[in-house]
Amino acid sequence: MTPPGSAAPLLLLAPMEGLLDFMLRDVLTRVGGIDRCVSEFIRVTGTLLPNKVFLRIVPELANGGRTPAGVPVRAQLLGSDPACLADNAARLAALGPAGIDLNFGCPAKVVNRHGGGATLLDEPERVGRILAAVRAAVPPAMPVSAKMRLGVRDDTRAVENALALAEAGAAELVVHARTKLDGYRPPAYWDRIAALREAVRVPVIANGEIWSVADARRCRAESGCSGLMLGRGMVADPGLALDILQAAGDGAPARPALDWAGLQPLLAAYWALVSRHIEPRHRAGRVKQWLHHLRRRHPQAEAAYLALRTENDPARLAAALGLPPAEPARPRSSGVEEERRIHHRPVQADGEVQVRAGDAAGGADVGDAVAGRDPVTRAHVRGAQVAAHRQQAAAVVQPDGAAVEEVVADVEHHA
Ligand SMILES: Cc1cc2nc3c(=O)[nH]c(=O)nc-3n(C[C@H](O)[C@H](O)[C@H](O)COP(=O)(O)O)c2cc1C
Repeated sequence: MTPPGSAAPLLLLAPMEGLLDFMLRDVLTRVGGIDRCVSEFIRVTGTLLPNKVFLRIVPELANGGRTPAGVPVRAQLLGSDPACLADNAARLAALGPAGIDLNFGCPAKVVNRHGGGATLLDEPERVGRILAAVRAAVPPAMPVSAKMRLGVRDDTRAVENALALAEAGAAELVVHARTKLDGYRPPAYWDRIAALREAVRVPVIANGEIWSVADARRCRAESGCSGLMLGRGMVADPGLALDILQAAGDGAPARPALDWAGLQPLLAAYWALVSRHIEPRHRAGRVKQWLHHLRRRHPQAEAAYLALRTENDPARLAAALGLPPAEPARPRSSGVEEERRIHHRPVQADGEVQVRAGDAAGGADVGDAVAGRDPVTRAHVRGAQVAAHRQQAAAVVQPDGAAVEEVVADVEHHA
């Protein structure tokens, strides 16, 4: 593995339920520096979830498993029952995420009450069974990774859990360097990750309390990990990943830090997404939530947040922040439409998918073919792949699903 502190680190964007959704993923990955994202968790509690749930939480599934900027997104599942998680993972895998991640770190009471998240770390044997069941349920080429904390109350079983995950087939482990009991209280114990990294043969990514280039450097040195996962630090300072790469000597010419003026187009892009996908009464709250995090790094965000803390009218909030007027509301598809298109068409045996599309960007295979270079493309595909390719053809559209209908109408299947 690459020694820490030398080559540019792999940088992942953390899953953050209730904060870092597809809209913020879109905006943050436009900045650059992030290699891969993990979606916020999708909770599995005894039922086989319909596709619309996966598509609602991870609309990037309708874009070849990538953000509009092209950064791959793994979808995260959270649950405690190996068989049920496996069934859901198989269904999710058919939608084409960039991988499946399993959550062994959530400290929330409501999640832990049902035996999910960080409490599982008291049962390494079950942790391994969950990973193995999911691994067996999804295509071999699809990576299955895991995100864990150091333990429940202490880190005495951390290595045991990491080994259970690695031996069950995890492609990569992200370790949030705290126990469930630690919650989100600083510090993060980066040095404790080192023992896990030494114990397993799969890549280990360090996570927790990386707010600056100096933190990143120290985390890499103490954990011995090359790769880092950034959560709140990226939300507070969207230029953090690029700054870390620059400091690690990625060979790119020096660039100025992303200042408040540089953030304005991102805020405008976020506002446009929020206006398009979120009900009017919740829009101001979304923008204030991001401003709240930006305060940590940008004094101008602090001033704006204090001035607008009680402002709930989206138009007034936007005007005060100098954001363009909201587009007319176009609520995001619930995912029902995509589900109908992707799965309620008969899947036939071998066949040919013909795709005709204009200028949209897509994923791999057929998705590439429809990226505008080759307006009419035929791809010979086998069995179940027909569904997957048809889905990729649908993936040329934006995650809001607005253009899905047109593109899929152009996909003809010849059995
Ligand atoms: C609001 C919030 C929501 C989170 N949601 C998830 C989640 O859905 N899945 C997960 O594995 N971790 C979740 N986490 C944990 C983060 O991914 C990350 O491990 C933690 O914030 C520490 O990293 P940071 O200090 O860089 O933020 C969440 C954290 C926060 C603050």
